[in-house]
This record gives sequence, structure tokens and C-alpha cells, in this order.
Amino acid sequence: MAVADRTSVLFFFLSLVAVIPVLQANIGEFDAYWQQKAKEAEETASKAYNSHPEEITDSLAKQVDATLVGTNATRRNLRKYNGPCLATNPIDRCWRCRADWMSDRKRLADCAQGFGHKAIGGKEGKFYVVTDPSDNDMANPKPGTLRHAVIQEEPLWIIFAKSMVIRLNQELIMTSNKTIDARGTHVLIANGAGITIQFIQNVIIHGLHIHNIVPGSGGMIRDSVNHIGFRTRSDGDGISIFGAANIWIDHVSMSNCSDGIIDAIMGSTGITISNGHFTNHNEVMLFGANDAHVIDKIMQITVAFNHFGQGLEQRMPRCRWGFIHVLNNDYTHWLMYAIGGSSQPTIISQGNRFIAPLDPYAKQVTHRDYATEDTWSKWQWRSEGDVMMNGAFFVESGEPHIEKYPFSRLEMIQAKPGSYVTRLTRFAGALDCKPNQPC
Ligand SMILES: *[C@@H]1O[C@H](CO)[C@@H](O)[C@H](O)[C@H]1NC(C)=O
Ligand SMILES: *[C@@H]1O[C@H](CO)[C@@H](O)[C@H](O)[C@H]1NC(C)=O
Ligand SMILES: *[C@@H]1O[C@H](CO)[C@@H](O)[C@H](O)[C@H]1NC(C)=O
Repeated sequence: MAVADRTSVLFFFLSLVAVIPVLQANIGEFDAYWQQKAKEAEETASKAYNSHPEEITDSLAKQVDATLVGTNATRRNLRKYNGPCLATNPIDRCWRCRADWMSDRKRLADCAQGFGHKAIGGKEGKFYVVTDPSDNDMANPKPGTLRHAVIQEEPLWIIFAKSMVIRLNQELIMTSNKTIDARGTHVLIANGAGITIQFIQNVIIHGLHIHNIVPGSGGMIRDSVNHIGFRTRSDGDGISIFGAANIWIDHVSMSNCSDGIIDAIMGSTGITISNGHFTNHNEVMLFGANDAHVIDKIMQITVAFNHFGQGLEQRMPRCRWGFIHVLNNDYTHWLMYAIGGSSQPTIISQGNRFIAPLDPYAKQVTHRDYATEDTWSKWQWRSEGDVMMNGAFFVESGEPHIEKYPFSRLEMIQAKPGSYVTRLTRFAGALDCKPNQPC
């Protein structure tokens, strides 16, 4: 495991704060407000980052869940499921099959697993009901809009009065301690800018559809009830996580964003991306934007129970520096490669299913940049219990599998063998939840 010396990482971060404006933070003026937020974010990130774990987890090899029946069929069963509620993975089992999910929405706050397990979002706050899909006033967002909800200082659990399509005029700049919970409604964020999670902590995003995201032009945007600032053009990511910690993104359906679907950069850590359904996109997930950003050594991210589906090209994810746990995802389509990286990231791939494309030159799951074999052969990239189909192969490197990774069971979810993946990911994407029924 690439454990960075903590002091040097923090020192690096502090030196970085001074130069961040030139590092595409999209912050026009790095004023006292943003400097304070960057400092707080760094403190949270250093706590979220586990460099002294106490509990120990066991290896995959020891556990087999006899109640699940595996299958090796390459085709997913795409028929709509009409049977009784099935929560097929440990995150969903925490809440999904309870008929009272609507009156007990905050139960979700205790369901995160993986490195984002500390995310409780707006659990301690009030509900905020979004009633108005418009997004016209960047300086003084109208009460009832999503933008008005996310700039409030207090913790909030944000829900939607009805199904709606929201076209964001500019990037949606969130504040800490928020949940966006679209369960029970069909909320589509499309044809405008994306969501920005910058220098904040503790966010849950659940159940959104996010499509066709384009860069916002920038300008004066209110990013808190107490602050408005100049933003440069945004990148066109669906969700951009920048210097932020304790983030959980669950059951989202995302496609066709002009930059990344989800990017996590600049010392972001404590992140879980689970139960997502991703389609029609080139550069899917970028974890670490630049080989010079050594701060990304603190990055710890779990990618679990997602379906990487039709029309995806590459970067599922593409990693630098950090520790990335990729488990029980279903990779049914890619054009170039599935998992890539540079700058010695640690990548532990467990119990995924990789179905290679027909192209004989794209069968390799893995892809390494900017390093000769002499160098990358030392990076720890391990495949354990993965199912390889259509000639897919994972080129391993680094230290062989170790029996015990130094993380708790909550941080490092125990993977099931890859043959269970269709079942584990069967309900990936935004769910269609009905009131007073199991979801
Ligand atoms: C699936 O494939 C794996 C690896 O090829 C094999 O060990 C396993 O027995 C197969 N499972 C089923 C249910 O066919
Ligand atoms: C978020 O909530 C935590 C825990 O209640 C609190 O310590 C922290 O100050 C809050 N952060 C912000 C920016 O309000
Ligand atoms: C992708 O999004 C762009 C920008 O909104 C749009 O012009 C394009 O038609 C979309 N492509 C597809 C396949 O939906």
C-alpha cells in the first residue's frame, strides 16, 4: 500500500493552497472565504484518510456466501423486475426493502460503506423540499430551487416535491453536510452544468439522473448564503469532487457529460461510488488529475456494485497516487480499457466481471501511462476473484496479494466472487421507489 508520509502530504497541501487558482479550481479569486474553506477541507481530509487503521479485514478467499448463486452468462437480464423487493448487496440491504423508506429517509445516512462510510450528509438537519426546477438567478437563487438548497450553511436533507428536469445554468456549488435524495421522484439534471463538491465535506448524492452535461460559462455565482464569488468556466463534469472528503454517491444514472462523469481530484478522499449505472461516455472517472499532485496520495476511494454499461470508452476509473478499491462491478462494455493509471496508484480489483469488447487490441482490462515496465511493475495492481470473459485479461503488478489489508471492514467492503456480479448490480442506477412500498 502506498502510504504517504503524512507530514509531507500535509505540507504539500499547504503549499498547494497558495497555487490552487492556477490549478483549475475554477475559483476566479481565491479570497479569504475560499482560503478558509480550503484549510478546513484539508483538516477533514487528513482525518478521513486512514493512515493508522486499527481493525483488520480478512481476504476475499476466506468467504463464500452460499446463499448467492453465481452465473457466468454474458448477457444481463434487462427485463424489468416485478417480483418482491430484492436487496442484493450489503449497501442496499441497509434500507431498500423497508416499506417505510419514505418516512424514514434519513436511515440512508447510516448505510454508506467503503471509504465514504463517514458520509452522513444532512442527517442532523431539516428537510428541504425542492419545488422549483428553475435555475435563473446565480446571485440570489430563488427559494425552492436546488441551488438555494445547496448554498445553505446548515445541514440539510434535500428532497423533491415532484419529478423534474433541472437545467443548471452554471455549476451547482454545494456546501458541506448535505444530502440530495431523489428517491420517489424522477429528477434529471441535464443539458446544462454539473455538480461541484469543492473544499467541503460530508455529502450524499442519491438517486439522480445526470445526462448531457456541458461546461458552465462562469461568472458571479453564489456558493454560500454568506459568499458570492467569480468562477471561471467549469469543466463539464457530471460530478466534480475537488479537495473534498467523506462523499457517498449511490444509485445514480449518468451518461454523456462533456468532461468526466465523476472526477475526484486535488486531495479528495473518503469516497464511495456505489450502485451507479454509467453509459455513453468517453472519460468516465478520473481520480487524480495530474502526476504532479502528490497530495492525491491521501486519496482513498471505493467503487462498488456499479454497472459500467453501453458506450463507455475508458477510465473506469483512471487513477493516480491513491488507494482505489474496485469491487463487484459489472463491466459489460468498454472500447479502450477499463482500469488505468499512472503515478503508482494502488488498485485492488476484487470480484468484478470484465467482459472484453470484440476488438482484439482492447482485451486488456488495465492500462498504464507514462512509465516503463521497470517502473510500473512495482505498482500494486491486483486482481482477485475477478471473472474474465471474451478474452479479457488483467495485467497484475507489484506486491502479490496480501492476506490482510490494513483497513476496517467498513472501509474495505468484503467482495463476493465475480460470478455473483449480475445479481449484485442488478438494480444499479437510479431506482423507481414508490411510497409505502419496499423500494
Ligand atoms: C464461472 O467461471 C469460473 C471461472 O471460469 C468457474 O470457476 C465457475 O465454475 C463458473 N461458474 C459457473 C456457475 O458456471
Ligand atoms: C458539518 O457538520 C459537522 C458535524 O455536525 C460540523 O462539525 C461541521 O462544522 C459542519 N460543517 C460545516 C461547514 O458547517
Ligand atoms: C450529449 O450531450 C450533448 C450536450 O448536451 C448533446 O449535444 C448530445 O446530443 C448528447 N449526445 C447524446 C448521444 O445524447
